[in-house]
Amino acid sequence: MVRARIIGTGSYTPRKILSNNDLARLVDTSDEWIMTRTGIKERHVAGDGEATSTFAYQAALKALEMAGITAGDLDMIIVATVTPDMLTPSVACLLQHKLEAYQAAAFDISAGCTGFLYALSTADSFIRAGNCSKVLVVGAESLSKITDYTDRTTCILFGDGAGAVVLSREQGQQGILSTLLYADGSCSDLLYMPGGGSAHPASPETIAKRYHYLKMDGNKVFKRAVKALEDCVTQILEKNKITGDQIALLISHQANLRIIQAIAKRLELPKEKVFVNIQKYGNTSSASVPIALDEANRQNRIKKNDLLLMNAFGAGFTWGSALVRW
Ligand code: ACO
Repeated sequence: MVRARIIGTGSYTPRKILSNNDLARLVDTSDEWIMTRTGIKERHVAGDGEATSTFAYQAALKALEMAGITAGDLDMIIVATVTPDMLTPSVACLLQHKLEAYQAAAFDISAGCTGFLYALSTADSFIRAGNCSKVLVVGAESLSKITDYTDRTTCILFGDGAGAVVLSREQGQQGILSTLLYADGSCSDLLYMPGGGSAHPASPETIAKRYHYLKMDGNKVFKRAVKALEDCVTQILEKNKITGDQIALLISHQANLRIIQAIAKRLELPKEKVFVNIQKYGNTSSASVPIALDEANRQNRIKKNDLLLMNAFGAGFTWGSALVRW
């Protein structure tokens, strides 16, 4: 059986750290409130001159090194992001240039916090169809650039960084077994950034209205995320005739510790089978799942033939899951 196998992982987060206490000096909040409601202690944010492609490049270098291939071996580069360096060209093209991977096709995917899983599923399809043999998939974000640091309901959540995987076309049982992707565009007004696109291009008015920052109805997003993800992980297990106890590690989008715990409870997974790093990075949107995957990999939390379950939920709404045999 031809499969897309993950042969390398990498991640990178900027040096600058914003702690809960730092945020408590900007808005009316506290370390205790943020920790209790979200599980976040601190987040990394871009420094001067840093943009999404900066982080994507560093994560990609590490993934390529682990994979033992050069950028010249890549057929395709897919970057999932909601915070590209600019509207066009894509971060994937900027990354292709930095890596000098000029033979690789390159494009971005915008699917909110589920972007990495959408990109992984796309790469998997290209590989299994026989159109690609080595694909670099990156989730990279600079959410600090679109975060309103006067809005306590959102500014406590987001951080910056990137994670990357190299997928290789191989015969065998290891690799991506299944992906499930969903969307519901009717909820687009619950989590969005109104300004900067063709509906509200940048103007003094859009700046005055703070249109260039993320707006979110957190509580509605939270409830929908829990329900959608519980259903989604159950479906992917049923589809693959796998039970929760066969999962070696759950790698969830790190948006809120309470959401991760709800999914783990639904699958009856013990704590040691649930990877959590939200305390260090907050919600890094498309970068969150691949950063967590890379950390779990480098901490030797994943063994050969282990079953990994990944899932994410985000703006759109979009959500999805992926089942991987390591
Ligand atoms: N500090 C102190 N109090 C706060 C803060 C804060 N930072 N933020 C909100 N509050 C207050 C509210 O004003 C409210 O006060 P009130 O009761 O007097 O009105 C109270 O705390 C409760 O607010 P809720 O919004 O109901 O709090 P909730 O428990 O839902 O937690 C949170 C808020 C953390 C945002 C949660 O809803 C959440 O995590 N939502 C999901 C986020 C997510 O998953 N996003 C998806 C991906 S993001 C992407 O795609 C880019």
